[in-house]
Amino acid sequence: MYYKKYESDRLFLSPMNVDDHQIYTKWINDETLSCGLGNFRFNITELSEKEWIEKVCKNGEHHYSIIRKEDNKVIGTYGLEVKSEVSRRFHVGGFIGEIDERGKGYGTEALKLITKFAFEILNAETLFSGIYAFNKASIKSAKKAGYKVSGKFRNAYFYNGEYHDEICVEITKEDYLESKEQ
Ligand SMILES: CC(C)(COP(=O)(O)OP(=O)(O)OC[C@H]1O[C@@H](n2cnc3c(N)ncnc32)[C@H](O)[C@@H]1OP(=O)(O)O)[C@@H](O)C(=O)NCCC(=O)NCCS
Repeated sequence: MYYKKYESDRLFLSPMNVDDHQIYTKWINDETLSCGLGNFRFNITELSEKEWIEKVCKNGEHHYSIIRKEDNKVIGTYGLEVKSEVSRRFHVGGFIGEIDERGKGYGTEALKLITKFAFEILNAETLFSGIYAFNKASIKSAKKAGYKVSGKFRNAYFYNGEYHDEICVEITKEDYLESKEQ
């Protein structure tokens, strides 16, 4: 069962559902997805994925399933993790799980939606993320959602026999309010 918590044109955020642990395990084991998340090196099993979703659900963490309104289908997940209560600073991240559903604007729409939730509901001051330099879709999606590139960590990620830079992206409340006016 999905619950319409916060919506945009085509999508809504729903609390995660532990019954989806198999589809998440399938997605996370797909290299085209996990190379971008940086966790391809881990052995993520149905059990560990189920336990992770259970933890998120029990603690009411701000990790959400992305549900397409048209067919009530789960297509990915986006979430926020508080990094400083005092500075109201959150890490943001997520993905569109099914390969066939990527490149249709869902990732950008979902990122805009979770960003709006962070600023308008959680009163965030800054959201940030790190994106590996080869992940052109993710960098473009972040920029389209109003995030700015603020620097990079060089050789931060060893994958596929070589090092890759990590691009730092962030959006402040001021940036968000400005982008809303445009
Ligand atoms: C990164 C991701 C979230 C983007 O979501 P998406 O729905 O596929 O992307 P969108 O359709 O919103 O496209 C965003 C922009 O990137 C562009 N884009 C999409 N795929 C691209 C690719 N392979 N190379 C370059 N640009 C690409 C799109 O054309 C679009 O720009 P445009 O509107 O100017 O044409 C999604 O592809 C994904 O989940 N990938 C795997 C996991 C991952 O990398 N997660 C992010 C970790 S930081």
